[in-house]
Amino acid sequence: MTPSPTEQPPLSVEGLRFGWGQAPPALRDCRLEIPGPGLWMLVGSNGSGKSTLLRLIAGLLSPDAGRILCSCKPALVFQNPDHQLLLPSCGSDLQLALPEGLSSGERADRVAQALAQVGLAGLEQRPIHTLSGGQKQRLAIAGALASSATLLLLDEPTALLDPDSQAGVLDLIHRLCHRSSAPLTALWITHRLEELRRCDGAALMQAGRIGPWQSGESLLRNLAPLPAGSAER
Ligand SMILES: Nc1ncnc2c1ncn2[C@@H]1O[C@H](COP(=O)(O)OP(=O)(O)OP(=O)(O)O)[C@@H](O)[C@H]1O
Ligand SMILES: [Mg+2]
Repeated sequence: MTPSPTEQPPLSVEGLRFGWGQAPPALRDCRLEIPGPGLWMLVGSNGSGKSTLLRLIAGLLSPDAGRILCSCKPALVFQNPDHQLLLPSCGSDLQLALPEGLSSGERADRVAQALAQVGLAGLEQRPIHTLSGGQKQRLAIAGALASSATLLLLDEPTALLDPDSQAGVLDLIHRLCHRSSAPLTALWITHRLEELRRCDGAALMQAGRIGPWQSGESLLRNLAPLPAGSAER
């Protein structure tokens, strides 16, 4: 999982500061390095700056200070897939995510490939409103894959899903991050602490800063015992 010294890490964040208007900074001297492909998880209490950080990495916001060095193409996946699926059918939505300059045959192939990668093969014509919540989240991930993203920024992607769909989405991302050819890098934010057991590294975000990587099991131990009701929302 750890790259050779000559390889660039997928993501490096140094001294990042960002404030929303006049409010105290949401991120202050925030540092993070993802050393290589794999599934990396961030946890932290409400308002600690996790979503703000993902938006900065995705380029939707500009930092007030600091640097973001990203050697991968990032794509955001939100908690609620309805906020990012825009067109009526699965195929048309994925078409929107494709890079420019492809022939119509290549576009159709890319869409079919992205659907197959997330377990939705053959659903090009399916209206999106007929998909289950878990299938919609898979389609949102397919959109990220269709865009050729290699760094997936997942903001509580399982928060709205039932346990089976949650496990399915987690399995899917885990598989994409551990495949033998061109494994992806994922930065996954969660309040569902049991998910930490599946990650390659986990870190705690507090008041706009991120602690060191540790194993998911170790972070779980360090976080326990949690106050009643804080493990899940
Ligand atoms: N669009 C916005 N406008 C103004 N302030 C914002 C905006 N988005 C976030 N903030 C503020 O930035 C701080 C960090 O918020 P952020 O959403 O990044 O936290 P979070 O760790 O993702 O929280 P949660 O676990 O609830 O999702 C909070 O004080 C929040 O109120
Ligand atoms: Mg958030």
